[in-house]
Amino acid sequence: MQTVRSVDEMQAAALAFRGEGKTIGLVPTMGFLHEGHLRLIDMARADCDVVIVSIFVNPTQFGVGEDFDKYPRDLDKDLDLCEKRNADIVFLPSIDDMFPAGYSTFVEETQIAKGLCGLSRPLHFRGVTTVCLKLFALCQPNVAVFGQKDAQQSKVICQMVSNFHLPIEIKIGETVRETDGLALSSRNVYLDEEQRSDALSLHQALQAGKNLVDEGTRNADRVRAELVHVLSKGRRVRVIYADVVDRETMEPLQSEIVPGSALLVVAAWVDSVRLIDNHLL
Ligand code: PAF
Repeated sequence: MQTVRSVDEMQAAALAFRGEGKTIGLVPTMGFLHEGHLRLIDMARADCDVVIVSIFVNPTQFGVGEDFDKYPRDLDKDLDLCEKRNADIVFLPSIDDMFPAGYSTFVEETQIAKGLCGLSRPLHFRGVTTVCLKLFALCQPNVAVFGQKDAQQSKVICQMVSNFHLPIEIKIGETVRETDGLALSSRNVYLDEEQRSDALSLHQALQAGKNLVDEGTRNADRVRAELVHVLSKGRRVRVIYADVVDRETMEPLQSEIVPGSALLVVAAWVDSVRLIDNHLL
């Protein structure tokens, strides 16, 4: 496994692979890797000749006062995990190379990114699409793999790829959970024991919402109320959103839930830790 820090070197290597007819799978990450990321690497490995994992804590997707500075980082462990998972290249660009002083070009998806996380984190998706477009240019992937836990992010990326006619297939890996249902997230490391216990209410709320739908409830407002009710049981939990949305557009459902096209989504603060989760219906 090779590590590449220079953006020029990364692009030259990627173009050389493509010139040799090799396919490239990219797994964009911000590091502090967990099993959820590693399964995305497996997906890229299964599909492509060359697997690139990028690790870059992207400052442009964090708002003022968010956790950019304290975002968890453990490069040695990440490199070890990538090696064990058979990645070929770990790309570690610097902030100065990616966003040098005077950097001025951003990409913005304006529909899917509007609601949900876009409401409470106004510049977040602009930062995500911009960094992903840059990573795509530098790594020249045939396939890029993202996680379903960030469902809105995945849809925003798909929309950008479609709108810009990028010849990249986006694949989505399932959310990986602890045995009690907590979705794996790099931010879980912030949680102490009590907070972790309250954080479980995200999964429990989704499960309760799904049960209602499985039992025949089709009224979206009834399911929304259930999500909020279960989330609110966590003493340290403050709901950011709890919704039933169309799984393609991420717009809140106004009418009846049609299983197969809807998504339950929740975001909440557990004290000062912001967590998200979702469940396909
Ligand atoms: O999901 C993430 O870790 C980040 O948003 C991504 C896609 C790597 C862009 O910085």
